[in-house]
Amino acid sequence: MAVSARRRKIVAGNWKMNKTVPEALALVRELRGTVAAVGDVVEVVVAPTFLALQPLHVALEGAPLQLAAQNCHWESSGAFTGEVSAPMLAELGCAYVIVGHSERRQLFGETDESVNKKARAVVAAGMKPILCVGETLAEREANQTLDVVERQVRGGLAGIEAKDVATFVLAYEPVWAIGTGRNATSAQAQEVHAAIRGLLGRLYDGETAGRVRIQYGGSVKPDNAAELLGQPDIDGALVGGASLKAGDFAAIIKAAT
Ligand code: PGA
Repeated sequence: MAVSARRRKIVAGNWKMNKTVPEALALVRELRGTVAAVGDVVEVVVAPTFLALQPLHVALEGAPLQLAAQNCHWESSGAFTGEVSAPMLAELGCAYVIVGHSERRQLFGETDESVNKKARAVVAAGMKPILCVGETLAEREANQTLDVVERQVRGGLAGIEAKDVATFVLAYEPVWAIGTGRNATSAQAQEVHAAIRGLLGRLYDGETAGRVRIQYGGSVKPDNAAELLGQPDIDGALVGGASLKAGDFAAIIKAAT
């Protein structure tokens, strides 16, 4: 079997700072049918605000829909006002935590070092990181895309063992494509995904590189999802705006089948 054939597609909705708890419950209710229909073929994840995690965990009752948090702190507990720790999220039923989203890097000062500490905390708490990387428009125009992404992948994974890296989801999200309606073309995305997988092979080994799932994110919509998800190294999508509407998110999930 080809190594790639073992990678199950993963479509995740990053709700960002959207949806009250009742709205979150209503959205998940609308998604249940779609998720049940594709259950084994595509892994479906939603990342609501911290506030909605517990109510969604209760409402999901074992439905094949995984929960992700959008962020965490790297310490387990302590005097860190306003923060939430990885063990707290694991206890609420989170399977994943998004780390290093470009909004966190750009608006909240996250660095490769803090992203790495968070990723380690997520692994230590028994969850899987969705580690985001991606270049700005200026970096792409300066032909620095692959250098920037390599630095972010190396920094984010520093000191983490192959067996743990294999559980990671990486998300390639060009900053210029996030929330802009301007997605990377499938060829642009595939080029970076293949480069990331090649880097994983050099940093670890072919087996690990073949197991890591790499999502594309940045203006994924129902009308571009199938083409992006059809690329050999694109193993799923991290979806922002389009994940807030059940119909659009359902269409993207179906495009992954
Ligand atoms: P978008 O966001 O789909 O709204 O571009 C993607 C993301 O930020 O993960």
